Amino acid sequence: MKIVNKISELQACMKEWRDLSVALVPTMGNLHAGHISLVNHARRLAERVVVSIFVNPLQFGASEDYATYPRTFEQDEKTLAAADTDLVFAPLPEEIYLRGRGSVTVVTVPDLSDILCGAARPGHFAGVATIVTILLNLVRPRWAIFGEKDFQQLLIIRRLVEDLHLAVEVIGHPTVREPDGLALSSRNSYLTAGQRHQAPILYQMLTTTRDQIYAGSRDYPKLEDERNWELILSGFEPEYYTIRRAADLALPQPEDRNLVILVAARLGRTRMIDNLAVTL
Ligand code: PAJ
Repeated sequence: MKIVNKISELQACMKEWRDLSVALVPTMGNLHAGHISLVNHARRLAERVVVSIFVNPLQFGASEDYATYPRTFEQDEKTLAAADTDLVFAPLPEEIYLRGRGSVTVVTVPDLSDILCGAARPGHFAGVATIVTILLNLVRPRWAIFGEKDFQQLLIIRRLVEDLHLAVEVIGHPTVREPDGLALSSRNSYLTAGQRHQAPILYQMLTTTRDQIYAGSRDYPKLEDERNWELILSGFEPEYYTIRRAADLALPQPEDRNLVILVAARLGRTRMIDNLAVTL
């Protein structure tokens, strides 16, 4: 497994592999079984697997956890080698953003970036769209693989690839969960033992709402309200609990068949998100 920090080294490697099929898995490191399931999927598809590890300053707000985001490079390196990764690209911010934070050329995906997580985290999805565009342009993979855990992020990346006519196939991969249903996330390490015990409620609520919809409930605002209250009573600070159309996160119309239930809530200082698809 090669590990490179410089764009010039990455590009030399990509040139060597120009006749091979490449899959890219972008990450911010602190890898867990969710990330590794993406790498395993990449391995099944492609002749060469590239994983990027880059805690992207552009997608963190001023009051967010950029400085304290868990960085575990040595462990990640071992995990990726064991998962048969061919190349790890782990640049420093100054290698990527040539002119510093205030002077970056930014990719903005309109509409989808301003709602839900984007409303709570202004500029976040522009930061994500920008780094993903840069990584896709540097690696030029045939496939890029992202988790459905970050459902809105996945839609935004699909949209940017379509709008910019990028020659890559975006692949969404199912969320990997703990046995109790909690979606794996690097930020779960922020939870205290008591909060960790509470955390699976998020997924239980999503399955409850899904089952209510399957049982015929169509009063979505009522279903959302019930769960918002339950979140508060369970010690969460809800940001949103909402039932949307899966294709574009618009409010569902009666004829829509592909829905997604999305939740974002704080438990103490930890912001948690999860979602569940509903197909009618
Ligand atoms: P990060 O949070 O490190 O996640 C990297 C990839 O792993 C994303 O595609 C994310 O959706 C996926 N992932 C996270 N938890 C998962 C789980 N439990 N099951 C399946 N997949 C999971 O998302 C980012 O980094 C960044 O925003 C990035 C796309 C790398 C841009 O900086």
